Amino acid sequence: MRFLTMILAAVAMCSCAGNHAEADFGKVIPLPERIEMTGEGEFTLRRGASVVFDGGNQDMARNAGFLRDYLKSDIGLELRLRPDGNRDNSIVLEQDTLIAEEGYRIDVCENGIVIAGGSPKGVFYGIQTLRKAVPAQDGKCSEVTFPCGKVAASPRFAYRGMHSDVVRHWFPEDYMKKYIDLMAFHGMNILHWHLSDDQGWRIEIKRFPELTEIGSYRDGTMVGRDTSVFDGVPVSGYFTQDEIREVVKYAADRYITVIPEIDIPGHMMAALHCFPQLGCTGGPYEVSKIWGVMPDILCAGNEDTFTFLEGVFSEICEMFPSGYIHIGGDEAPRVRWEACPKCQARIKAEGLRDDASSSAEAKLQSYFMTRVEEFLKTKGRRVIGWDEILEGGVSQSATIMSWRGVDGGLEAARRGHDVIMTPCQYMYFDYYQTDDFENEPMAMTGYVPLEKVYSFEPMLPEMTAEERSHILGVQANLWAEYISTPEHAFYMALPRMAALSEVQWLRPEHKDWNSFEERLQSFVKFYDRDGYRYHPLAAASGQE
Ligand code: ACM
Ligand code: ZN
Repeated sequence: MRFLTMILAAVAMCSCAGNHAEADFGKVIPLPERIEMTGEGEFTLRRGASVVFDGGNQDMARNAGFLRDYLKSDIGLELRLRPDGNRDNSIVLEQDTLIAEEGYRIDVCENGIVIAGGSPKGVFYGIQTLRKAVPAQDGKCSEVTFPCGKVAASPRFAYRGMHSDVVRHWFPEDYMKKYIDLMAFHGMNILHWHLSDDQGWRIEIKRFPELTEIGSYRDGTMVGRDTSVFDGVPVSGYFTQDEIREVVKYAADRYITVIPEIDIPGHMMAALHCFPQLGCTGGPYEVSKIWGVMPDILCAGNEDTFTFLEGVFSEICEMFPSGYIHIGGDEAPRVRWEACPKCQARIKAEGLRDDASSSAEAKLQSYFMTRVEEFLKTKGRRVIGWDEILEGGVSQSATIMSWRGVDGGLEAARRGHDVIMTPCQYMYFDYYQTDDFENEPMAMTGYVPLEKVYSFEPMLPEMTAEERSHILGVQANLWAEYISTPEHAFYMALPRMAALSEVQWLRPEHKDWNSFEERLQSFVKFYDRDGYRYHPLAAASGQE
């Protein structure tokens, strides 16, 4: 069965017969929810045809440029840009207020194609669908035939995220741009960027140059899993503020918002190495060469901790225009707080007490996170935190990212918080994607095959309509403990991002694993064409 599918895929790859390609909207991922072909007539797009758009609208002009550039690099077909020009023999880009903001409609008739969107963002997704309808080619194509008909879609979820960890291993700006291109290709709109952790600090903060001068460097990494052997290979690298702004703009041009994460109060060893006075014991601390959860975290009783964080987050807000700032909150053991006179004094001063549901130290974390949240509110920002922040009570306005499963998300929605679902059992792309662990490159322990990703349903049966209204969307995470090169990162992300895109875009009644698996056979040829490594077996038909 798998062999047959591979032959069919090989045949599909050769579809540019005589420099002519046939577009097929039925092969696209994420699949448009409406595809109605008239069954007769077609439009043939040839070199010299135009892209027509509202020349007075910057976003639409950028969209037109993207469409032209995509078709040129995808299949070598050159189109002309014609602001406000004649609509014949062209692809017209336009806005239509009757369409949902991120939705699009593609109308193909014999005179040309219209891509209409509820906003320039919707038009952009229509452009992505159009280019994905054209099969990957071996060579250049001088013409593409589109069958007449209508195609339409709008995403199920407003939050369609992918996460990137550039701390455990360093990935440069060029990689981030490729990652963003891939996200745009899959219809995603949020990049959650994990920029600081125990193993390094990767974003320039001008007030505290030590963070990157010293904190971005570690002199080795644990070999294998849970050993005390180190490879002695230095890992360093960080983004300057100019580079950050460049990445944020590159993403914004593609309708992707970058949400930065500075993880507090735990996962802070790199910062503590630079500023040991901000830890409960005073250190010394080293930038971690091991993975896992460290007992040393920021001291919650020391006012200097908050002065430091306000300085860091002020600059973060200057670099990132996102409505949300992610402040972490996961895996923060409270053992040091239990023994620290300053933290205990804070507990007393704030009147925090153990009760049946949480310890005084858990409430101290709530105090800590809420204090930073209040500061970020003064900058007009909202916060996201990992699901641990529910433990000691959390401010109503915090959005919860449910990672240890879906229970945190359910509990948060019950308490009236907005929720992003990223349960590790379905959405951790650093876990193995086949069960042949011995022959896979080492990965985080856990098994998330493609079909499991595809099967994820964030609306739990027990959720009420009110609770469901709090589920903003779904995200997958790509932690980089065991991923040190861009090629390996793409190998882990692909083709699972394709499955994620259908979780994010399609209503459950439109999801169909068998159809997805079949479409994937030709879809992965785009990855080949664009030089993205992917997992070939996970993408082949017949995997469990
Ligand atoms: C996490 O994976 N520690 C959020
Ligand atoms: Zn302390």
